[in-house]
Amino acid sequence: MSGSATASESIIETDSLTDQRIVVLDFGSQYAQLIARRVREQNVYCQILRHDITAERLKEIAPKGIILSGGPSSVYEDGAPRCDPGLFQLGIPVLGICYGMQLTCMALGGKVENTPSREYGRADCQITDGSGLFADLPGSIEVWMSHGDQVSAISEQFEPMAKTSTCPYAAIRHRELPVFGMQFHPEVTHTPMGGQILQNFVIGVCGCQPNWQLSDFAELTIQQIRQHVGKRRVICGLSGGVDSSVVAALLYKAIGPQLTCILIDNGLLRKNEQALVIDEFTNHFKADLHVVNAEDRFLASLAGITEPQEKRRRIGHDFIECFKKEAEEIENAHFLAQGTLYPDVIESGADPDGPAATIKLHHNVGGLPDELGFELIEPLRDLFKDEVRRLGLELGLPEKLVWRHPFPGPGLAVRCLGEVTRDKLVVLRAADAIVIEEIEAAGLYRETSQTFAVLLPVQSVGVMGDARTYDNAIAVRSVNTNDFMTADWSRLPYDLLARISTRIINEVKGVNRVCYDISSKPPATIEWE
Ligand code: XMP
Repeated sequence: MSGSATASESIIETDSLTDQRIVVLDFGSQYAQLIARRVREQNVYCQILRHDITAERLKEIAPKGIILSGGPSSVYEDGAPRCDPGLFQLGIPVLGICYGMQLTCMALGGKVENTPSREYGRADCQITDGSGLFADLPGSIEVWMSHGDQVSAISEQFEPMAKTSTCPYAAIRHRELPVFGMQFHPEVTHTPMGGQILQNFVIGVCGCQPNWQLSDFAELTIQQIRQHVGKRRVICGLSGGVDSSVVAALLYKAIGPQLTCILIDNGLLRKNEQALVIDEFTNHFKADLHVVNAEDRFLASLAGITEPQEKRRRIGHDFIECFKKEAEEIENAHFLAQGTLYPDVIESGADPDGPAATIKLHHNVGGLPDELGFELIEPLRDLFKDEVRRLGLELGLPEKLVWRHPFPGPGLAVRCLGEVTRDKLVVLRAADAIVIEEIEAAGLYRETSQTFAVLLPVQSVGVMGDARTYDNAIAVRSVNTNDFMTADWSRLPYDLLARISTRIINEVKGVNRVCYDISSKPPATIEWE
């Protein structure tokens, strides 16, 4: 390994991506990322920033518009997140959503009160001012409300734009400044005209040119990678998942033979996963691919281990060791490419202007520590997952790979409950492949977010032919979710479940019972361990 510096900052200069950006200040809303995605759907670049960023710093960033997100706090609570009131005087258009509207009113002389009952759900909204924000909308629209407090009085400086039966100021505008407030949530799909409202703000009010395009992003990123990497070598770990595949495809386009990919087969992959990756990155992209067959090592260190977190810890440790050893063999390797996405950057607090970490979803056991000594390249760190998928398609990756359901770093180990053994993995892998085959055949793979089989650590009695059996049980898990933080079980058709069950019991030796998991998250999690 020849690299020395480690970098947590991207080599990709976001500033050169566009001068037409909208920023969202995050007040702890579960919807801040959704707002940013909706804005990007208008082909306008959008970035999430800390709620307490100074007006001065905002002036330097020079966004075309500022959106203040919602948030769980009450504006009068001690320690409630605030914004720099100076931002309203910058002359940059501001849209406050829910909590963001309440802050706007407080800063500019309105009154916010706690409503007797929290309002949550759909409401009919009458638009009384059909200009600007509400241009080209009907006089009455359905909106989604989710708030405890609401604005009960506005100062002379504001005028109302919309109302509902319980909310006299569903939307307001400042008479002189380009400042707007909205009690409802335009970013959620339950506000059907929400996309048009955000478009009116971003394009109409802020005057953004809708020119943020993934193809431009890819082109610019490729150029920047070429410039930065020079003649040195980049290593990229492949997992079979979409993020690492897109990173590898992008790097291959940028530097071709200077890229070396490493696939660690830990023996915990799904059926045909290794073959799929090898085929894609040697036949299609013709990249230099090193496959490390490390099944024995991983299974040896998992022997006798039943505790899920201990399984994760051991797998993570072994992965780093295997990767390090392989990487040391690669001459002139200076960079390590990783598939860090924008939500990871936001949640880890890695962006100095970004919101502080609120919830960290997972310690990704596929992650590699800084001590490896490489300089990092994270070309996807400005993108959301759906953008990464679109980019993958633009780069020529096959649909099958691009639309793959997420697969956890510890792989089948957390779906093989209790101790992991080679024999159990054979059973689980075969059952899982049948679940996926059948769901694909039914045309429902893309309709579900994550679907898989779990091998339970119980035996139960059955009868096959005339003989009594005492065999394994498989649970089928299929969920629908937008963010993987909450999820509902998929309402799969009975006929499909029947086919899955019959095939698994007939074709997978050692299984005599199949159950369907009908628990939502919370309180259950998506994985069983
Ligand atoms: P849970 O089970 O917490 O999973 O509802 C939410 C999402 O995270 C994935 N997951 C993991 N991903 N390392 C990962 O890289 C892990 O240890 C891990 N555990 C769960 C899970 O598959 C789902 O998509």
